[in-house]
Amino acid sequence: MTAVIVGASSGLGRALASELASRGGDLLIVASDPRDLEAIAADLSLRHGINVRGVAMDVGIEANPSARILTALEGMSPITGLLLPIGVSREDDDGTLDARGIGQLLAINLHAPLAIVHGLLAQLLQTRGVVVLFGSIASIRGRGRNIVYASAKRGLISLYESLRQRYRPDELRVQFYQLGFLATNLTYGMRLPMRALDPASVAKTVARRIGGRSAFRHVPRRWRSLSIVLRALPWTVYRHIRN
Ligand SMILES: NC(=O)c1ccc[n+]([C@@H]2O[C@H](COP(=O)([O-])OP(=O)(O)OC[C@H]3O[C@@H](n4cnc5c(N)ncnc54)[C@H](OP(=O)(O)O)[C@@H]3O)[C@@H](O)[C@H]2O)c1
Repeated sequence: MTAVIVGASSGLGRALASELASRGGDLLIVASDPRDLEAIAADLSLRHGINVRGVAMDVGIEANPSARILTALEGMSPITGLLLPIGVSREDDDGTLDARGIGQLLAINLHAPLAIVHGLLAQLLQTRGVVVLFGSIASIRGRGRNIVYASAKRGLISLYESLRQRYRPDELRVQFYQLGFLATNLTYGMRLPMRALDPASVAKTVARRIGGRSAFRHVPRRWRSLSIVLRALPWTVYRHIRN
């Protein structure tokens, strides 16, 4: 059994790599920095006696990110899980980004997950595997910040629905985590309205449920009711909220 983790070099992805390694499966880890990947792969394979391979690529510029993953998977045990905790946001994603900046955010946050899911789907269907996608509370309702990032994360919700609509639960399982704030690089130095979650505890939750059914979940759970309230607010009220 092999799990592929895209965005495995820091934050939640790194915590997931560590958590899944401790449970004994082989790993293929993907990120842009080769040194981080080498160090993580060496550490996890030594500590847990598993096979860990790394694929270093910048998915912001890679036209076909699944091709390198498929090549790296050759000779590994069958892939049973694809986890995509990849993501990048920018302070200037407030309507001032140029087309290049917009393209880069879409490539990393939306194109890469779409392309990698499509590329690995045939193998995941053979093992009745699981696709695990990670969204953000930033995409609950459009606002004046994280404009492109939130659009991409909304796109992932559509991908989640499409996969569930296209495949029966006994063919493919699809899990979506709508995440609140995490204490990771993405939020480093930011003033947050609430305490950021420890990525290790979120990784434990994801790993515990990975063998289970398809589902859309909010982490932390209170964001589910907050989302319902935010989405239910009349536009004339919502548009005045500075969030
Ligand atoms: N942190 C939060 O508060 C928060 C809130 C809501 C949702 N989320 C979502 O939760 C997930 C995990 O976030 P996180 O906070 O753990 O992020 P993080 O610590 O910044 O880690 C992001 C991962 O993505 C990889 N990555 C970024 N750009 C890449 C590129 N161009 N090519 C290849 N890999 C790339 C990074 O590797 P390299 O550094 O090597 O590029 C890293 O491994 C993401 O989907 C994020 O959008 C996070």
